This record gives sequence, structure tokens and C-alpha cells, in this order.
Amino acid sequence: MHIIKSKHDLVASLLSLRRKDEKVTIGFIPTMGALHSGHASLIDESVSENTITVCSIFVNPTQFGDKSDLDKYPKPIEKDIEILIKHKCDILFLPEFEDVYSANCIQQKFELGELEFTIEGASRPGHFQGVCNVVNRLFEIIKPDWAYFGQKDYQQTAIIKSLIKLTRSDVILKIVPTKREPNGLAMSSRNIRLSETGRKNAAFIYKALRDIRSDIETRSLTELVERAKQFISSQKGADLDYLRVVDAETLHEVTSLKQSADVVVLVAVTYEGVRLIDNIFLT
Ligand code: PAJ
Repeated sequence: MHIIKSKHDLVASLLSLRRKDEKVTIGFIPTMGALHSGHASLIDESVSENTITVCSIFVNPTQFGDKSDLDKYPKPIEKDIEILIKHKCDILFLPEFEDVYSANCIQQKFELGELEFTIEGASRPGHFQGVCNVVNRLFEIIKPDWAYFGQKDYQQTAIIKSLIKLTRSDVILKIVPTKREPNGLAMSSRNIRLSETGRKNAAFIYKALRDIRSDIETRSLTELVERAKQFISSQKGADLDYLRVVDAETLHEVTSLKQSADVVVLVAVTYEGVRLIDNIFLT
């Protein structure tokens, strides 16, 4: 695997690969590191579908509203490199801050509409602008054919779809299913901040989502949502931020499955001081 730190070296190296063979396809996985099996599943998918797989690691400061969350973000780069080599990633890009943000324009403003401000966006003002800034810049540098994102961050995938439209980019978005711990907890770089017991107990989040889905034929959605909220709030140390049932395209709230073709439940819970998010499709 090549580790490339300079934007210019990366552009030159991808250009030369494309010149040698015009059929080359580039799959790209943007990450913030602290890689786990969830990230690895994105890499695997790209490796199986493309000639070249590029993964970036950049802990993007502009998407963190909470400075302490940014400071606490784990950075186990040696372990990350091992994982990427094991999963046959071709290029690891480690950009500098200046590669992503130019001195005279720290952030661009993308017109994302209400998607930016709803649900996760309401809890984390500015977060999705930060995500779009870094992803857009990385797309400009790498010009991937395919970009791989996890369903785990569901609203982020909707935002990236909008970004691709807004910027008239040719990149094709591929959404990869959420990888889970054996107990159902969605894998996340933040999980290592949970205690050992906390990590076991945090299975209650996915259980709450599954319980909605399993009873959907026999009970009303409103009743199931209320039950799930109560279940989460009754867990010691859990602080429910939101649990919302929405149309999978627009992220508008729905109260019955009949209201839209695809319905997804989005949840965010702070547990042992760690903010965890998850989602499940009901249809
Ligand atoms: P990060 O949290 O490192 O996640 C990188 C990618 O891995 C995202 O597309 C995320 O949805 C996916 N991912 C994380 N956990 C997963 C899991 N359990 N199963 C499947 N996929 C999973 O998301 C970001 O970084 C950043 O916002 C980024 C897009 C890199 C912009 O800075």
C-alpha cells in the first residue's frame, strides 16, 4: 500500500494510473481513522469492484461542534495502516489541513436545504457543512468513480447524495450496510470510549430499533415509537437525543408506513458520555 501525504503526489499518481489504462476505476472511502470492521467492509467492497482503492484518513475539525469530542477522537494510525494493508487498500491518503482548507476560504457554504438542519443536523449545528467541505475537497482531489459510505451514518448518506447533485459530480455513491458487534451494537470509532460493560449493555440501542420492526404488523407506529423511547430512557446512564421515524428519501417525519415507500428509524443516544447513532429500515 502506498501512503501519500501530499495532495500533489496523489493527483500525479492517480493521473498516471489513468493515463496508463483508461479502464481504471477508482473507489474511494473517506474516513476519520480509528478503523474497525465497519470501515473494512467499505474497503472490501471497493477492492472487489475497482482497480484502485483509495482510503483517506483525516479528522476533520470543521464537522465537530464540540471541541472536546474532536480532542478525544482516537488516532491509532499504526493499527489503521495494518488494517488497510490486510484489506488490500492500494493508497492511503493522509491530507494536511491546508490540502483541504485554503487559507483565504476556510469553509464553503453548500445549499443543502432542510436536510442540513433536521434530526442529526439539529443536534450538531454546522456538522453537515463540515462534512460536505471535506468530502467535496477530497472528491475534487481524487476524482473517484465510486465513493463508499456506511448506512450507519444514514443522514450523512442523504447529505452526500445532495452534495453530488449540487456539485454536478460524476461520482457514484455506494451505501454499505452497517457492521455490528455480535450483540448488535453498531460498530463505531467512538465505541472504544465505552467501558467493557457499557459496550455490552449498549446493545439496547439496536434492540429498541429491532423491537419496533418486529411488532410493526400488530401495533401502531406511534405506540411502538413511544415504547422504544421509554425503553431507551429507562436504561441507566442513557440520555436519548432523538428517535425519529422518517421517509428514507426526504427525512420527513412519518406516522404510518403507508405514508412513504421506504421508512427508516433514526436514533441518537448518549451513553456513558459517548454519543452513539444507529438506524433501521422498517420497510
Ligand atoms: P467515519 O466516522 O470514520 O466513517 C467513515 C465511513 O465509515 C462513513 O461512511 C461511515 O458511515 C462508515 N462507517 C462507520 N461505521 C460503520 C459501520 N459500523 N458499518 C458500516 N460503515 C460504517 O463518517 C465519517 O468518518 C466522516 O464524516 C467523513 C465522511 C470521513 C467526513 O469527514
